[in-house]
Amino acid sequence: MYFSLVISILILIVSTESKQIATRNLHPDVGLNIIQLAEKYGYPLESHNVQTSDGYILTLHRIPYGPNNSSRDDVRPPVLLMHGLLSSSVDWINMGPGVGLGLLLADNGYDVWMGNQRGNTWSRQHITLDPDLDAEKFFNFSFHEIGVYDLPAKIDYILETTEQEKVFYVGHSQGTTDFFVMGSERPEYNDKIALMIALAPIAYMGELPNPIIRQLVESYDLIKQLIDHMKIYEFLPHFDFYTDIGEQICSDSSEFQDTCLLFLNIICGFDFDIDPNFIPVITSNAPAGSSINQILHYAQEIRSGNFAQYDHDREENVVKYGQETPPLYDVTKITAPVSLYYANNDWLAAIDDVLKLGDGLSNLVNLKKVSNSQFNHLDFLWAQHVADLVYNDVIAEIKATN
Ligand SMILES: *[C@@H]1O[C@H](CO)[C@@H](O)[C@H](O)[C@H]1NC(C)=O
Ligand SMILES: *[C@@H]1O[C@H](CO)[C@@H](O)[C@H](O)[C@H]1NC(C)=O
Ligand SMILES: *[C@@H]1O[C@H](CO)[C@@H](O)[C@H](O)[C@H]1NC(C)=O
Repeated sequence: MYFSLVISILILIVSTESKQIATRNLHPDVGLNIIQLAEKYGYPLESHNVQTSDGYILTLHRIPYGPNNSSRDDVRPPVLLMHGLLSSSVDWINMGPGVGLGLLLADNGYDVWMGNQRGNTWSRQHITLDPDLDAEKFFNFSFHEIGVYDLPAKIDYILETTEQEKVFYVGHSQGTTDFFVMGSERPEYNDKIALMIALAPIAYMGELPNPIIRQLVESYDLIKQLIDHMKIYEFLPHFDFYTDIGEQICSDSSEFQDTCLLFLNIICGFDFDIDPNFIPVITSNAPAGSSINQILHYAQEIRSGNFAQYDHDREENVVKYGQETPPLYDVTKITAPVSLYYANNDWLAAIDDVLKLGDGLSNLVNLKKVSNSQFNHLDFLWAQHVADLVYNDVIAEIKATN
């Protein structure tokens, strides 16, 4: 509620200030969701519902084949793509044909499944809980539950539907955290993974270089008290006005474009390769919603330097975990083959933290730093040159794996 209010006021100011500014440079894909984008690009898109063992109903979006490669008799190895915090399945296609990883994989003969984490735009459903009326219970999860319940449900569903034994997995940011949680807490799932590719991997966060986020984390206790007091459970669900903000603030014709870029740079690292005109396409679907606990869980990781379960207060930890501090995730249990792709200028996935994770993994296949030294966290999805800098290597690595 509170966030909506602040954002509404912001929009009011911006829209009155910029009423006269023409929007003629608007990107043609602004306002389209994943279903509309796939249709526009000529790719088939299916929606599948998957139920987790704790009652959440999740949407998997599937592109079973590309438009020029549509013989369904071929065996198409399945690939599960998992988005990051506050995002959704559209991350993998909104760059369009020839660039979006989901589309490139379909063109290359893969059966592409794009997940949506519990609580986002497409997975705001539960067999008994209502996300609005029962928000305190519905949003009582972090990336721990996504790794322990969501991913296994999706993987089982995909393997059953495609009658395959293994699935490829590509995650971005939190989509990698989810996987590392699953690999250590549900180790039986490691055998179902042909290869896991981690773009901007996040497990340890003790070396996070972002000075602004570090500053916020210093005030963790105060912020946590405020959140409890204000009864905030859901964080940044999607409203159409984000599209308007993106348009008004970030488009070519906007006098606020510099501010828009500064804001993104502050979160993700400076000097990135995203076309500002494309930002309203991103904000047409993002933020897509998460629980506040996901944010708090990451803040705990930054503060402690540990890759550990959610830290309740001391007493609740004792009740829940039988010890005063949250148990650490044992990354040595992740036996699936994993490749880590990281970047020099990523302000969220620090190089030292990625290397520490790489040291712990028992089946590290590839540790690859993106050659462009300015590449940052969001460039992994939306850099203008992302196919050349990253995706072609990802696809080559998948093709080379049986
Ligand atoms: C499919 O083939 C058509 C005609 O050759 C071509 O214009 C189009 O770019 C191709 N699409 C993809 C995704 O390869
Ligand atoms: C079409 O898919 C098959 C796998 O089913 C793959 O071997 C082939 O390279 C693909 N063709 C094109 C033009 O991408
Ligand atoms: C949230 O989940 C934790 C266990 O993870 C439980 O201890 C707590 O009671 C739950 N809170 C609500 C409001 O359901």
